[in-house]
Amino acid sequence: MSRIAYVNGRYRPHAHAAVHIEDRGYQFADGVYEVVLVHRGHMVDEEGHLDRLDRSLGEIRITPPMARAPMRAVMREVLRRNRIQNGFIYIQITRGVARRDHPFPKAVKPALVMTARTIKPFDLQAARTGVDAITIPDIRWKRCDIKTVGLLPNVLGKQRAREAGAYEAWMVDETGFVTEGTSSNAWIVTRDGDLLTRNLSGAILGGITRRAILDLAHAANVRFVERAFTVAEAKAAREAFVTSASSLVKPVVRIDGQSIGNGHIGEITERLLCLYAAHMDEAAKP
Ligand code: PDD
Repeated sequence: MSRIAYVNGRYRPHAHAAVHIEDRGYQFADGVYEVVLVHRGHMVDEEGHLDRLDRSLGEIRITPPMARAPMRAVMREVLRRNRIQNGFIYIQITRGVARRDHPFPKAVKPALVMTARTIKPFDLQAARTGVDAITIPDIRWKRCDIKTVGLLPNVLGKQRAREAGAYEAWMVDETGFVTEGTSSNAWIVTRDGDLLTRNLSGAILGGITRRAILDLAHAANVRFVERAFTVAEAKAAREAFVTSASSLVKPVVRIDGQSIGNGHIGEITERLLCLYAAHMDEAAKP
């Protein structure tokens, strides 16, 4: 079946879907995006993603190209036309097409693109498999809370991880504290059993999965603290994991080659993974 993309009001065959060469996303990374997980035909945390999209747009002063209700309708139509049961929907909004010049162009309509793709259905046993992370310097700007398409440091970091045989790279700020992964939030469980993830600021993206996990942890009486932790704390941790719409809750069992815990998914990570799996099923309830 051929894939279909939504491009500025039209549903186009994926292979022929295109935007203009002077789209400001292409020239300036002047745009924002979202990745939403689809589980059994339903979007997980759709409202959270749309809220964050609005926030990102507001922070860079792009007017939303459409209201929430038609946006939701287009998302559903993209999923329907691509027959997505398990997968992702990618939403990108840029400032639009204009002659290349740094200031905001006048009277330009923002460009909206959506694509979707299928992934394997969620498999709890496979999700338990631990991965490696490496640490790298965080070379990004100071507004990482905005989900912009300007991802070059993330791309370079992820490539370093891949070349080191690792799944993710944890970025480290100038004072030795972990900010986040190149496409995920970073978590540890300390020797004292405290669940830690960095507090929200311009240093990290406020992950929608991160928020869901904090809410699930709270409801399940799992103690947590939102604070920065150092690489040394991470390497001494009992457990480590990452969260994102694509990684879900993924155990990290080695950091820079050093084993974390016993090298397998830890107890709290396991609990949170199961809670998150239930949260996904909840979203998929008819
Ligand atoms: N990335 N931090 C960064 C830098 C990210 O790019 C992402 C998500 C996250 C986690 O956010 P969420 O839980 O809302 O997915 C944290 C997406 C999946 C991506 O770029 O593909």
